[in-house]
Amino acid sequence: MTAPKKLFIKTYGCQMNVYDSERMGDAIAATGYVSVDTPDEADLILLNTCHIREKAAEKVYSELGRYRKFKDANPDLKIGVAGCVAQAEGEEIIHRQPMVDLVVGPQAYHRLPEMLAKVDKGERAVDTDFPTEDKFDHLPRGPKARRAPSAFLTVQEGCDKFCAFCVVPYTRGSEVSRPPQKLLTEARDLVERGVAEINLLGQNVNAYLADGWTLAKLIRELAKIDGLERIRFTTSHPNDMDDDLIAAHGDVEKLMPYLHLPVQSGSDKILKLMNRKHTAADYLKVLDRIRAVRPDIALSGDFIVGFPGEEESDFQATMELCEQVRYAMAYSFKYSARPGTPAANRVTVDEDVSAERLQRLQKLLTTHQTDFQQSMVGKTLPVLLEKSARDPGQMVGKSPYLHAVHCQADKNLVGKIVNIKVTRSERNSLVGDLVV
Ligand code: 5AD
Ligand code: SF4
Repeated sequence: MTAPKKLFIKTYGCQMNVYDSERMGDAIAATGYVSVDTPDEADLILLNTCHIREKAAEKVYSELGRYRKFKDANPDLKIGVAGCVAQAEGEEIIHRQPMVDLVVGPQAYHRLPEMLAKVDKGERAVDTDFPTEDKFDHLPRGPKARRAPSAFLTVQEGCDKFCAFCVVPYTRGSEVSRPPQKLLTEARDLVERGVAEINLLGQNVNAYLADGWTLAKLIRELAKIDGLERIRFTTSHPNDMDDDLIAAHGDVEKLMPYLHLPVQSGSDKILKLMNRKHTAADYLKVLDRIRAVRPDIALSGDFIVGFPGEEESDFQATMELCEQVRYAMAYSFKYSARPGTPAANRVTVDEDVSAERLQRLQKLLTTHQTDFQQSMVGKTLPVLLEKSARDPGQMVGKSPYLHAVHCQADKNLVGKIVNIKVTRSERNSLVGDLVV
């Protein structure tokens, strides 16, 4: 019997890429590969790439450069590029980089087995189509192995919003929602495999609509699954927070009190230039309505500073919005022009000005994050224990508000929700004691 071939997948970017890598791993495993954690002995290396911000393609080329020595040592090594850079620049990658055997866009992963068969014959394979069939129908599930307590489940892909800075509508395509019955089956399967928390993923997840089901209806039905303890979803657009989804935050106990709802800017002028289709006031109104039904909700957001046309007064409006919202957590980025997007050729804000604004914003966001974490000290929180931490006897889990929480606990508590009394707040996590 020949030894199975080894597959190494490196994942960049968002949680959806993490989910896709798992499913690609399952599909490739079905053709006789086993997964390994390092690239050095791999027979197939797959880069699952992200194109959202600048230097994405450069990062891919430099990573490929690092693999040259493996290819020299093992001429049979195959290298593939998947994900959003593959979608956007597939043809160029295959021309520029002779080391690459395979380029596959995010909507064509189910065709990987045939592509690999071609590659095994010494050909190169490129597929960046947006096929009409549902790739998840054609991607095999892995063996019924035990899973980590928290899992991702992609329910929706693509985006029809066309924010002026964003590549997603081009790399992931238009909005497609997966059929609810299939998702319920997949969720039950995850729970059977030890999953207690499901994070529903979509580029625009709250635009979910399939067979007349909205995201709220899907969440309500998922909540009926015994053994599924926690439900989360990400990422949402403010305009798609419908009444029922807001209500669900108040009446679905399993829906965790954490919402990632990006606004990008606090200035109406910039929001318009970004084509966000809402004002700062519209956004704040949505937050008020959610807080009315779930006062303790932890809010999270994304911000872009230095978007073309942003003046100091626009930036101040962003700072004011942050002061008003007091995010539990937020991500902020310097604008980077993405080729092919409507804002790509606009006059940019001076690089130093953007950098300085980003620093000011991040300082403010960090203060709020620290305050929120500090407010947890002394409280007892239900924590889903996920895995052992680096220190012996230490475990790490998640609070309802998505904090990483460290504590001393026995390994057999992995997958259980336990009460932890928070004793300390660290930079990006909490520390506490198991309450028995
Ligand atoms: N420049 C900077 N940040 C961007 N994002 C998306 N596109 C760009 C861009 N061109 C940020 C947005 C989005 C997050 C995932 O990445 O804030 O919400
Ligand atoms: Fe990109 Fe999100 Fe805007 Fe869609 S809603 S275009 S994914 S930033």
